[in-house]
Amino acid sequence: MYGLMRTIAVRRLLGAAALSFMVASPAWALEVRGYDSSEDPGLYKYSERFREMAEFPPSEGLLDDAKEVFNKDRGGKSCSTCHGDDGEKLVGAATNYPKYDAKLGKPKLIQHAINTCLTDRMGQQALKWEGGEQVALVTYVKALSNGMELNVQTDGPMAKFIEEGRKSYYERMGHFDVACHHCHENAAGTNIRAEYMSSPFGQNYKSFHEVAKGFRGSERDKRLQAGREIGSGSIEHWPIYRTKWGKLASMQKRLRTCNKNVRGHVRPYGDDYYVNIEAFLASKTNGMRINVPGFRP
Ligand code: HEC
Ligand code: HEC
Repeated sequence: MYGLMRTIAVRRLLGAAALSFMVASPAWALEVRGYDSSEDPGLYKYSERFREMAEFPPSEGLLDDAKEVFNKDRGGKSCSTCHGDDGEKLVGAATNYPKYDAKLGKPKLIQHAINTCLTDRMGQQALKWEGGEQVALVTYVKALSNGMELNVQTDGPMAKFIEEGRKSYYERMGHFDVACHHCHENAAGTNIRAEYMSSPFGQNYKSFHEVAKGFRGSERDKRLQAGREIGSGSIEHWPIYRTKWGKLASMQKRLRTCNKNVRGHVRPYGDDYYVNIEAFLASKTNGMRINVPGFRP
């Protein structure tokens, strides 16, 4: 409750919900807005206790740590050297990812963009995929766009990659011969082992408050309906802090885990297969406000 009130108070202070960051004392530091559980459509599935916890998630301090990674000196330069104090020039950049890269002739992730800066502009090695520093930087760069609408290109050169991602989403895989959509749409709102299945879509985002309001205890029908109708979003709240993993994790780790769970083919991090799926998921969550790091059990 206090978390919600605090968020509202901050908004009032700013006078506009659209502002995604504020300048606090000391006056020169860029304060990046953290995760706001009241804007996360995926939380309705979890217990009241978990939702209360989400108002003060254990990931709160991690954004400060991530800012330090961003400002860390690497051979005489830090990310801020070119991207402004605390990365202020990257505010809004993450709203377009995955983003088409004309040089590569395909879309890239924020991870790829960061690695290019490290290798081509800083003379450093690329960061280990899904290592602590990489996830911290991706989370920080994305948090600079917290509160802003996801706005990934879906036409032009992106169209064919999104179509590839869509095909993968509906393609059967692995020992269990199931596709993403079997778990995430057909079973959305039900339980698989101990986990509630979410629909990573977000088309009806604006009505999620309505459905969630009528949701009490374990009324299965309502949960089913909610899971199918409203979706839980996806790209807008990733990377997340997952209590089960005890750390920040990117969508790449999630997708690989989903492949693994059905004993499907697990590709390397950053593989075109996963980039295209992220682009497809983004096309379904465009318009939702970026809200990272999300919080999941
Ligand atoms: C020497 C200058 C320099 C340094 C240091 C640098 N970058 Fe960059 N960065 C750039 C340039 C130039 C671009 C390309 C901008 C463009 O495409 O418009 C870029 C692009 C990016 C982008 C993509 C932005 C977009 O709009 O798509 C991200 C994200 C990024 N950098 C993050 C980082 C991070 C994180 C670090 C620290 C590890 C870093 N950069 C260090 C110069 C730098
Ligand atoms: C056997 C069932 C199963 C299959 C098949 C499966 N997943 Fe998952 N997925 C899960 C479970 C369980 C979770 C964790 C609970 C949740 O968030 O829904 C999850 C979580 C996710 C999330 C995070 C949702 C959120 O709210 O943050 C996304 C996105 C996702 N999966 C995408 C995919 C994609 C894309 C595929 C196909 C490549 C896929 N999944 C295949 C079971 C599955």
